[in-house]
Amino acid sequence: MHVTIKTPEEQEKMRVAGHLAADVLDMIGEYVKVGASTDELDTICHRYITEVQGAVPAPLNYRGFPKSICTSINHVVCHGIPGERVLKSGDVVNIDITVIKDGYHGDTSRMFFVGKTSVQAERLSTIAYEGMWLGIEQLAAGKHLGDIGHAVQQHVEKNRYSVVREYCGHGIGRGFHEDPQVLHYGQPGTGMELRAGMTLTVEPMVNAGKREVRLLPDGWTVVTKDHQLSAQWEHTVLITESGYEVLTLGAEQR
Ligand code: MF3
Ligand code: CO
Ligand code: CO
Repeated sequence: MHVTIKTPEEQEKMRVAGHLAADVLDMIGEYVKVGASTDELDTICHRYITEVQGAVPAPLNYRGFPKSICTSINHVVCHGIPGERVLKSGDVVNIDITVIKDGYHGDTSRMFFVGKTSVQAERLSTIAYEGMWLGIEQLAAGKHLGDIGHAVQQHVEKNRYSVVREYCGHGIGRGFHEDPQVLHYGQPGTGMELRAGMTLTVEPMVNAGKREVRLLPDGWTVVTKDHQLSAQWEHTVLITESGYEVLTLGAEQR
């Protein structure tokens, strides 16, 4: 395993990339509405990233991924490919944005609600959001990866939801997916020890039903096996001596 420690100069580049990724989510919110297709959302984000931000959409052509963002609707767990699917009232969609600026990646996702949302979908999204933050709040030099996973898992399972095992958070920097893997389940005090200067993502996928997932024949789209809803939130985070700095906060939270 090769975990990179970012220098202060690299940390600043990660901060810039992280803010740009969050800015895209801030921008796209008003377009996520009944009647919009996920292809339209992809096009708007692509143009914003390339033309306004002077950045690169990392998903495009990443291991053959055909679009610039991921749009994961309802029972889609992650890596949904934008297409002709039109949003309808009641849909819940995760939009996952990764940009590259000056060689460094920023990676973040949020849930968006279309039209009138069910109480169940809102509750699932809330638990996933809280789980992400409980994981992030574990971060500091000297803590262990298992501390993150445990914090997320106990919150999710206490609320009778399940944590997806097959996909996880990751180190991030010059690479989109660097070491280590950041599991969203585990035992406190286990796994790699964290050090100041590491940058990684926390991005739990939380299922309303069983944790099992299935990969669709397109090779990307991951869905829940039981077709129940799934929710995900993601931040890119820098580990510091005393704790952490979230690099992908929206403009209003900075
Ligand atoms: N953004 C995703 C993550 O959080 C990865 C997407 S890979 C893609 O790690 F190719 F589907 F874009
Ligand atoms: Co990620
Ligand atoms: Co992501």
